Amino acid sequence: MREIIVAITGASGSQYATRLIQRLAEHDVYLHLILSDAARIVLAHEVGCVLSDDHRKNESELSVFLGVSPSKIKLYALKEWFSPVASGSSGIDDMVIVPCSMGSLARIACGMSENLIERSADVILKEKKRLILVPRETPLSSIHLENMLKLSRMNVHMLAAMPGFYHGEKTVLSLIDFIVDRILDHLKLDGQQRRWGKGS
Ligand SMILES: Cc1cc2nc3c(=O)[nH]c(=O)nc-3n(C[C@H](O)[C@H](O)[C@H](O)COP(=O)(O)O)c2cc1C
Repeated sequence: MREIIVAITGASGSQYATRLIQRLAEHDVYLHLILSDAARIVLAHEVGCVLSDDHRKNESELSVFLGVSPSKIKLYALKEWFSPVASGSSGIDDMVIVPCSMGSLARIACGMSENLIERSADVILKEKKRLILVPRETPLSSIHLENMLKLSRMNVHMLAAMPGFYHGEKTVLSLIDFIVDRILDHLKLDGQQRRWGKGS
């Protein structure tokens, strides 16, 4: 079974993360999940996903909220350094950070590795595996743009949360799926992606 790391940070757009996890769970994949402290706040604020202070309960709370089988996900604490995602020996090939805050993006660009999200990204980079970032901020400062350029030059997929409207999107969910479809494309996973010039 393919294994994918999905990290959620405290940028706006938690809906992209919750939808991505639900869509990924339809595939033959096992998800290693990590949430930043700010992500917990934004998840509660934007999608009403309120996780308790007891971390041991969070994995089942998340699986119930998302309607995803607990057998498909493993949630790690931010300082869980003995988790597989903290080492290149895990052999995991893909990581998505969605949404990706400018803070996490900056720390990853500098190799800070102070929490498990940053460390996992650092591992993916050093192992030359696939790292997909879904940054969200507007407007973008020169600092943001320079950090993105630096990561892009390291072959990081900079898949900004900028949905297009050319499929005739009518609902918020279809705009969210626009981005989720592109993430699935970059993970080389087939879903129900709408294709330009192919009648959808
Ligand atoms: C409701 C809410 C929305 C936010 N939206 C953004 C955003 O779109 N982009 C961003 O970079 N930070 C945003 N922030 C600020 C980040 O959460 C903050 O910089 C935090 O330190 C990021 O930490 P993390 O990278 O560890 O998740 C938002 C915060 C809140 C509470």
